[in-house]
Amino acid sequence: VRTLLVIGIGAGHPEHLTLQAVGALRRARTVFLLDKGSAAGELAALRRDVIAAHAQQPYDVVEIPDPPRDRAPHDYAAEVHDWHAARAALISTAVAQLPEDAVAAFLVWGDPSLYDSTLRIVDRLDVPCAVEVIPGITAVQALTAAHGTTLNRVGEPVLITTGRRLAADGLGAHDAVVMLDAHDGWRGLDPDVEIVWGACLGTADEVLIRGAVGAVGEQISQARAELRARKGWVMDVYLLRRPAQR
Ligand SMILES: C[S@@+](CC[C@H](N)C(=O)[O-])C[C@H]1O[C@@H](n2cnc3c(N)ncnc32)[C@H](O)[C@@H]1O
Repeated sequence: VRTLLVIGIGAGHPEHLTLQAVGALRRARTVFLLDKGSAAGELAALRRDVIAAHAQQPYDVVEIPDPPRDRAPHDYAAEVHDWHAARAALISTAVAQLPEDAVAAFLVWGDPSLYDSTLRIVDRLDVPCAVEVIPGITAVQALTAAHGTTLNRVGEPVLITTGRRLAADGLGAHDAVVMLDAHDGWRGLDPDVEIVWGACLGTADEVLIRGAVGAVGEQISQARAELRARKGWVMDVYLLRRPAQR
């Protein structure tokens, strides 16, 4: 059967790859790129940098086009489900064209377990495949390392959530990491909450800001707007520490 390697490649820096990830990359002859949205071009270019930095053999790079998707659906879960099905169908078609003994790789941003659909999509392929997952350094780890800080406080839990959920639910009883925030989710929070923020981590455009939301929130919004204006997109992640526990 065909082998599919789902390789976590870290959050942007070519040296974020583990030795296991480099070894897996060197086994593959075909690489699938599934990027989407406004960042797709630059993310694909960063993945090509990763391949160039570590590969020892030529690759077929197959970019899978993204099926259209309703960005403001009535039923979000149903829309995502249908969209994954459409992506799985496109990938099944591409995989079925590979030789029976092919080894192909999906290069997944960060780690495949964290806010990424590749494993769910691979589960739905209608071509039999042996799947191997290689873990990667997440944006969360890239953030805490860049700031030289810990993720959790002693004995404390940390929630990992999205900008969408932060906007809907507010900051609950625990510290939280916020990913996939299309807006400035820190606006409106208690000004004494500490924010540990990073954008474009591991890349030449990396920006790090940390402080009380009331003191640095505006500076973060400006940095974010500047990156978005210059690049057309921005990927940022942040840790929120509640003041009562500090
Ligand atoms: C679709 S999720 C993928 C997460 C990825 N699987 C991981 O393990 O980090 C994309 C989100 O990850 C975060 N992210 C990924 N790479 C980042 C980077 N280099 N700098 C800042 N945030 C990043 C952002 O919150 C972004 O919205």
